[in-house]
Amino acid sequence: MATKRDDACPGQAVPQGTAYGRPPQTSNALLTQVGPGTPMGELMRRYWQPVLASHNVTSRPREIRILGEDLIVFRDGQGKPGLLYPRCMHRGTSLFWGRVEQDGIRCCYHGWKFDVEGNCLEQPCEPNGGVNRASARQPWYPVRERYGLVWAYMGPPERMPVLPRYSCMEPLEAGETYIAYDNSMAAHADLGGPEVVPYSWLHMNDNVMDPFHVQVLHTTFSGTQFVNAFVHMPKVKFEEMEGGMFYSARRTLDDGRVLDRISTWLMPHIMSVPDTVLKEGRPNMLGISVPVDDTHCRILATFRLPHGVGPIDPELGMSEFKPWSRKTVAERQDQPGDYEAQQGQGAISLHSEEHLVTSDIGIGMQRRALTRAIETVRAGGDPPGLIFDEADAMIEIPSGNFYRG
Ligand code: FES
Ligand SMILES: [Fe+2]
Repeated sequence: MATKRDDACPGQAVPQGTAYGRPPQTSNALLTQVGPGTPMGELMRRYWQPVLASHNVTSRPREIRILGEDLIVFRDGQGKPGLLYPRCMHRGTSLFWGRVEQDGIRCCYHGWKFDVEGNCLEQPCEPNGGVNRASARQPWYPVRERYGLVWAYMGPPERMPVLPRYSCMEPLEAGETYIAYDNSMAAHADLGGPEVVPYSWLHMNDNVMDPFHVQVLHTTFSGTQFVNAFVHMPKVKFEEMEGGMFYSARRTLDDGRVLDRISTWLMPHIMSVPDTVLKEGRPNMLGISVPVDDTHCRILATFRLPHGVGPIDPELGMSEFKPWSRKTVAERQDQPGDYEAQQGQGAISLHSEEHLVTSDIGIGMQRRALTRAIETVRAGGDPPGLIFDEADAMIEIPSGNFYRG
């Protein structure tokens, strides 16, 4: 005879809240799917996307995946960067095997040559150079260079905005130069870490409006990964602005001064975080979490590098800690950083099982802003923050370290 459940272990309380029988969980597909035709993919395509650091765009063709699209990036002999669909329009071999010349890239198979805008310049196997050559066009995307990065516009051509300027990046101060990184160093603080991180772009985007993890993850849990001042839990105020939002994180420092640290997030994935050595004034960098595809992200960053300061040492990485690439798993457990915390969320987080609380107000605001912008694009409008007149290209960034007292 079956035993009644209540009688199975008389005197023993039934455990509550166990992992058994939990319901299936889901991800927020609206915010994490970025391929062509997806709602977030279409929103992303309305903004200029950084592709690579300028110094990594060379005469050697390179495969690049961005927003779920596979493309070829190169720099022609005149110094112009190009971003083309990889499959040659003739019979489909990859331009990865092509050769860059003065005015374009030549396909290895039958020698069709395309310039950086996809115009077909030569068809050497065809009589008279190809009677329809002038109408042939390899699919391409417009690109520009600014702040040491190559940027692309992958959206509807008739809605192309101007490439914005950012007040934290210009003008340069005396002796400064731009230095850009395209290897996701912002996640693992190391030039030897993964160039593309194996998780959704939304992980890093969430991180930007989350000043509280700086006290825990980067200071009290893992030791001081930035500065000791972050040991003080901040009082935080979030505010919306045109095309984004910012927060002020206020801390009273050990010397009695009050530090207001303002960080900005701009639609859809740009962060402007102040100097982590707490230098007064505007930030010297811009970071961008560009989706490679739904489950991978490349974090690019550009800095105003002061005169006399060298680029980040590949042997040392960004922090005083052992470089990420040389750490054992146990060492990474002892001192996790953004990479570990974000990889731990999975390739795409299970948003239905999150428990967003007071300290996640910024993340909620950010996600609602993105959702509203998706609806605007779906309805045929322009999302916030786009600029269509070169005279208005400068975006004022409120970020910075500001001291009182
Ligand atoms: S496949 Fe490229 S020229 Fe023929
Ligand atoms: Fe962080």
